[in-house]
Amino acid sequence: MDRIRIVGGKSLNGHIRVKGAKNAVLPLMAAALLTEDEVVLRDVPNLSDIRTMTDVLIHLGAEVSFEGDVLRIKANNINKFDAPYELVSKMRASFWVLGPLVGRFHQAKVSLPGGCAIGTRPVDRHLYAMEQLGVNIDIQNGYVLATGKPKGNKIYFQIKTVGGTMNALMAAVLADGTTEIINAAAEPEVTDLARCLVEMGADIKGIGTQRLIVNGVESLHGTSHTVVPDRIEAATYAVAAGITQGQLYIENAHLYLMEDVVFSLCYMGLDIFEKDNGIIVKGADCRLKATDITTEEFPGFPTDVQAQMMALMCLAEGTSTVTENIFENRFMHVQELVRMGADIRLQGSRTAIVRGVPQLSGAQVMASDLRASAALVLAGLAAKGETLVSRIYHLDRGYDHMEEKLRVCGADIERIKIKSEE
Ligand code: EPZ
Repeated sequence: MDRIRIVGGKSLNGHIRVKGAKNAVLPLMAAALLTEDEVVLRDVPNLSDIRTMTDVLIHLGAEVSFEGDVLRIKANNINKFDAPYELVSKMRASFWVLGPLVGRFHQAKVSLPGGCAIGTRPVDRHLYAMEQLGVNIDIQNGYVLATGKPKGNKIYFQIKTVGGTMNALMAAVLADGTTEIINAAAEPEVTDLARCLVEMGADIKGIGTQRLIVNGVESLHGTSHTVVPDRIEAATYAVAAGITQGQLYIENAHLYLMEDVVFSLCYMGLDIFEKDNGIIVKGADCRLKATDITTEEFPGFPTDVQAQMMALMCLAEGTSTVTENIFENRFMHVQELVRMGADIRLQGSRTAIVRGVPQLSGAQVMASDLRASAALVLAGLAAKGETLVSRIYHLDRGYDHMEEKLRVCGADIERIKIKSEE
């Protein structure tokens, strides 16, 4: 149970490289189950979520190796078709083995994930997609039992779902006939999965749009795929430059993956432009201007940057409004930011009103989920005095060596190893 200790007030200057997106790697790992050939994923970050997905694949019988940033998966000896509760409850993306297992082996037994710190997060739409493909779904003792070979059909998602679209795609690529996925999620990580599936021999049209057409093929083969850059990691470091009035070159960050975040940051007063294979983010010399954001599906403002953006708004001049449209309970960071001197009021469960204050002060705070942890670290970088962030195992799920990357750019930040925590 490590903690992060930050002494705030240092301006960050330097170079940070972001790796492939965690939220792309996890489904790509599941997709490797669709072929007996080796799938090689490149630019993979070293994260605990990747290790959990590795455990799931090894449990199923796959061979997995991870050296440097190259992950190799060979699923030529799958001898189990279940994802147990112990692994799915640790990380809900484990549920995404459902689609590929059903697609290739026509059977799966996957634990229902249950709720988590940001909302109830049901999987009803994943199951609806499987049923539309003619897969028989039964729920028994907390597990989804899925049987039958998928057959092409229309899948209409009433609300967009990233994971649901990915599961549907992975079940449809080896199905008999044609599947049409309507109102599909078009997040870059979904697009990356679709592209990788095509590299493996799948026939998918409409990639990057909300209507995907999948013509089922007999089998898929291996590939070597470089993972799409992590737009959320990039946005987090862009906020770090802004909140410390510094300047960062964020390599492997691309504007087309994060336009809405960049618009909001520039409106607040940051200067952001492309350079070489990345972006330069320059903080402002004066106080930033307040702004309003509403989280939406891609290309709208991502829910995964909402908490980090709120940390920045805490110090802006004027009143900002944050409306969270994707998850019903994603404001757990608010009370922790308030402990650091922020002036934030919740209006119902979906809106936060942030009145900017001139200075935050360091405090002991507790992370509740991955992006909330990042927001607390960002607030700590700007706060006066010492901030101690506990429960940072959340941070290790999604940020590869965050404190080292920040320290190299001038942050006074360290990880404190603690044996046990209350
Ligand atoms: C993915 O979660 C990401 N997770 C999340 O990132 C991200 O916040 C989210 O997409 C939205 O962009 C991974 O990629 C591992 P959804 P996912 O299905 O697929 C509701 C992070 O910090 N819903 O698009 O689970 C759901 O409750 C994480 O990296 C249903 O009601 O998100 C939510 O309100 C957190 N029924 C909304 O839809 C369903 O069957 C969108 O969820 C499925 C979803």
